[in-house]
Amino acid sequence: MGNEKIFAANWKLYKNPQQTRDFFASFLPLIEKNNQNAGTHGSSSATSTKKIIFFPPAVNFEATGQALKNQTSIQWGAQNCWIQKEGAFTGETSVQTVKDLGGSWILVGHSERRKLFSETLEWTGQKVKLSLELGLSPMLCIGETLEERQAGRTDEINFQQLKAGLSQITPDLKNKTLAIAYEPVWAIGTGQVATPEQVKSAHAQIKKFLTQLGFSENTPVLYGGSVKPENAKELLAIPNVDGFLVGGASLEPQSFMKIIC
Ligand code: PGA
Repeated sequence: MGNEKIFAANWKLYKNPQQTRDFFASFLPLIEKNNQNAGTHGSSSATSTKKIIFFPPAVNFEATGQALKNQTSIQWGAQNCWIQKEGAFTGETSVQTVKDLGGSWILVGHSERRKLFSETLEWTGQKVKLSLELGLSPMLCIGETLEERQAGRTDEINFQQLKAGLSQITPDLKNKTLAIAYEPVWAIGTGQVATPEQVKSAHAQIKKFLTQLGFSENTPVLYGGSVKPENAKELLAIPNVDGFLVGGASLEPQSFMKIIC
């Protein structure tokens, strides 16, 4: 991945198809304008050197796929999937459908899925595996709760979730693209961003764990949890921070754009 930075937007349960189209109608010209400016000024802030990923709610897959079909550095994916690609699984999202509509990522193990929808460690491993098998890239979310941090268990929890999420990847799938999003649960949607020291330490450990588990240390590790235009620059300068997973601040084109540039 080298120096490529990834900026991922987790829209959670926000926006309908029209609002999705409106978002991209504003956002894509901002990206184009930025790239033109960067080109004329020889600046390194061209978004073409960055990867942008949107995770819209499932009802917006089609609108998102349509809006992004001619984009090369902007991709999209699902916020969740089921462990099988089809069957009697009422209310679930199929990896195959995401693929058919042009999506390329699956978010796995977001803390809201783990906590509110009882996502198990076992499922995260199965979802990562199925995504890779069908040619999509998983973005595995990991991170500790406040009680776990206060009990000094941050690294232990990160290792446990990382290990379970990656445990079912077979050797033939090991060199496929995947990403990790470190999101301390207490920093999500709270406005309470982790300190640079906390982020630095967690990311360094996660990179170490990745190599222990047989994965490349170049596997991107994104930070998530109250990332805003005001704190993005400082966070992105921290070693081993390869980008962001952004919730609230990605819902508005200008705000997300400020985080990217
Ligand atoms: P937040 O959400 O940026 O609103 O804290 C991040 C996430 O849940 O991925």
